[in-house]
Amino acid sequence: MNIVRFQPRSISLAACLIAMVGMVNLASAADATNRTGKEIVTTICIACHGEGKDGAPRIGNTKDWAPRAKYGLNQLSKNAMEGVRKMPAHGGEASLSDLEVERAIAYMVSGGKASDKDKTSGKVTHGTGEQIVASACGNCHREGSNGAPRIGDAEAWRPRLAKGINELVSSAVHGHNKMPSRGGFVNLSDADLRAAVSYMASKSSAPAN
Ligand code: HEC
Ligand code: HEC
Repeated sequence: MNIVRFQPRSISLAACLIAMVGMVNLASAADATNRTGKEIVTTICIACHGEGKDGAPRIGNTKDWAPRAKYGLNQLSKNAMEGVRKMPAHGGEASLSDLEVERAIAYMVSGGKASDKDKTSGKVTHGTGEQIVASACGNCHREGSNGAPRIGDAEAWRPRLAKGINELVSSAVHGHNKMPSRGGFVNLSDADLRAAVSYMASKSSAPAN
């Protein structure tokens, strides 16, 4: 079964990424560190992204981020590294690594709701709905943490499915109460989210008999 195979692989990919960044840091800059998204945002990015200075999208503000999150994490981090209009390159902090910038963006887009694990493995491999759910949505939806409707729990899904699939995809894109926008994985496209929602819905419909 795919779920079993996919997870260890994505975890080792994340571990690999961290190891690689660690080595680059050691090799290139003595003062480079492996900061969390929260540390970076609350010390560096908050200067402009806190209040929305010069039109900076505000931390955790879904409306501000929605049109930008559509570009995907790769494009957003490229823009953040290179700078865009009044957004300075690296947010003005030259020592930030790509991975650190990605964590910071994931933190800002989700308003801090994406867990550290989500930020570390910010690059979820695109794949089938089943694979995306296994790597990105399962954290909460497998056990039903924090009131997330559990996969396979027809009771919990019935009132939600009644809203129609488009409405549910929209909740996944923009966030819904304690459900973070894009599950905290800013690089998931709208199509990825639709595939993931369809998969969860198909596993959670009431059996016909
Ligand atoms: C000096 C102010 C300032 C600081 C500090 C700053 N930003 Fe920005 N940022 C901006 C502004 C202004 C914009 C809006 C630019 C625009 O679209 O015109 C922006 C936009 C962005 C965007 C969206 C880019 C896009 O393509 O739409 C990202 C991502 C971003 N910032 C990340 C960060 C990160 C990560 C940090 C901290 C490491 C940071 N910023 C620090 C001012 C700042
Ligand atoms: C950090 C935990 C978390 C993650 C990760 C997460 N969810 Fe959720 N999700 C929730 C919670 C909590 C709710 C219930 C929100 C509510 O209705 O109050 C929810 C609700 C939903 C709903 C129902 C929304 C509605 O309108 O009723 C959908 C659809 C959904 N999630 C899709 C996803 C998808 C797709 C992913 C993966 C890309 C994902 N979720 C990842 C926590 C999470």
